[in-house]
Order: sequence, then structure tokens, then C-alpha cells
Amino acid sequence: MNVYGLIGNPVGHSVSPPMHEAAYAELGMDASYVAFEPPVDELDAAIHGAKTLGIAGLNVTIPFKQDVMAYVEADPLAERIGAVNTIEFGGEGDPVGYNTDAVGITRSFEHHGVDLDGKKAVVVGAGGAGRAAAFALSDAGCEVHIANRTVDKAIDLGSQVPHASGGSLDTLESQLDEASILLNATSVGMESDETPVSKELLHDELTVLDAVYAPLETRLLREASEVGADTIDGAWMLLFQGVEAFEIWTDRDAPVDAMNRALREQLDG
Ligand code: ATR
Repeated sequence: MNVYGLIGNPVGHSVSPPMHEAAYAELGMDASYVAFEPPVDELDAAIHGAKTLGIAGLNVTIPFKQDVMAYVEADPLAERIGAVNTIEFGGEGDPVGYNTDAVGITRSFEHHGVDLDGKKAVVVGAGGAGRAAAFALSDAGCEVHIANRTVDKAIDLGSQVPHASGGSLDTLESQLDEASILLNATSVGMESDETPVSKELLHDELTVLDAVYAPLETRLLREASEVGADTIDGAWMLLFQGVEAFEIWTDRDAPVDAMNRALREQLDG
């Protein structure tokens, strides 16, 4: 049996185990996915232990996504983003680290028939999710503007990402006018009825993706629908980062529909 898993702290509410287990069941694979919660100061032991025990792959979440880079050979995209959320074990040398959050974002747009090439995209937020979003959208051919509460982080990220700029949340007004993609990568709207972008700035040429998935219909997405914009909820990003991890680990196409059903059952319940 192949054992996969997730390391983070806390991981109690993770939806990844049922999502991956649904994929194994759908394909009749002899595999299992377990959530592990090592103490925050014992990442070293956790990674070496996983390798020694023959664990095939691990997803990595808060607070380990940056620190884990010390124990893996990060692929070029993960290296640029500065965070790893998927580790593949099994080779001779160091385990290999990937960032499937970034690919999860572009695959979410692709799945909804949105062509990103040549589009203007606005990312709100410059934390971990914002970094993954900015690199992913830039690599997909977008001109990217990053708006963040802490301006220095947006400007810094804008200088690292090709074809990107950064500014304060006040820049949203001028930047959104010409944009066709809006991605919320802040935590604003999580378990609350707040929005990072006021409704007056939204318009019907936009496709809006919200990384927040609790609730699935955030205020941002609700107001975006009300002005006639297309919306993509945060569960899609969660799904496709998992789909991408599954495909890296197994070298086979993921059963996307089965994984999506299992994920949405968790999120709705
Ligand atoms: P993640 O890894 O999920 O991106 P993070 O690195 O803590 O989490 O980043 C959180 C993001 O949400 C940041 O861009 C943060 O803005 P700051 O860089 O100014 O902290 C943003 N954020 C959180 N709460 C916010 C709020 N109330 N208003 C605006 N932005 C907020």
C-alpha cells in the first residue's frame, strides 16, 4: 500500500484526506491518505521520519510551507514562490518539493473555460496565496497587479514577478477598470460577511476567483454575481491543488469529478 499524507499544525479540519481517498476508491488503488500534526518545532524529524517510513508523498500546509524548503529539492516554480505544498519522496536524493497552489489556480480558470493569456489580472493580497497567484497568473500570460494592505509587500512581490506591479488597496479602483481577472488571496471574507473589494469597483467583464472557501459563496462572489461577473469559488483552487499533487505522485490522471464530489460534501457539511 502507498501512504500519502498532509503535515500541518493544526490539520484537524483538513478536507484533503476525504478528497484523496475518494480518488483512490474511484481508481481502485491500494493507497491511503493520512493527516499528520507534528509539533511546530519538529519539522526536521517529521520529514526524515516520513522518508524513513517510506511515505510516498506529503502535502504541506501552515505553518510549514516555507520552512520545509530546507529539506527538499524545490522545483523552479516553488523556488520562485518561496513555498512548497507538495513533496514527492522515493528517489535517491532529497525529496522533491512542488507548489501545486500555483498550478491549482491556473487549472481552476482553465476548467471554467477562461483563457488567461494576454489578460490583465488583479490579485488582492501578498501573503503565501498572493505569491502563488501572482506567479501563476504571470506564467500564464497575464499582466498582473498586486494590491495589498501592507504596500511594501505588494511592491516587493510586484518587482519579483515578471509583468507585474504592486500597490496599496487604493490602487484597486484604477487597476480593476481594465482588468478581466480578479483573485482574492487575502483572508477577508473567511467566516465573515466582509469583502476586500467594494462592490462599486466590480463589473461584468470580470471573472472573480476567491481563495476563501468558507463560506463557499463569500460576499465578494455574491456581489460579483450581482453585477454580472463570472465567479469561481475557493473550493476549485483547493480541488485542483489536490488534483495536481495526485498526478505528480501517481503519474496518472486524477478522477477530478470524484475528488470534487468528496470535497464539496465536506465543505457543504
Ligand atoms: P496566506 O498564506 O493565506 O496568504 P498570509 O500570508 O497571512 O496568509 O497573508 C494574508 C493576506 O491577507 C495578506 O496579504 C494580508 O495583508 P497584509 O500583508 O497587509 O497583512 C491580507 N489580509 C489579512 N487581513 C486583512 C484585512 N483585514 N484587510 C486587508 N488585507 C488583509
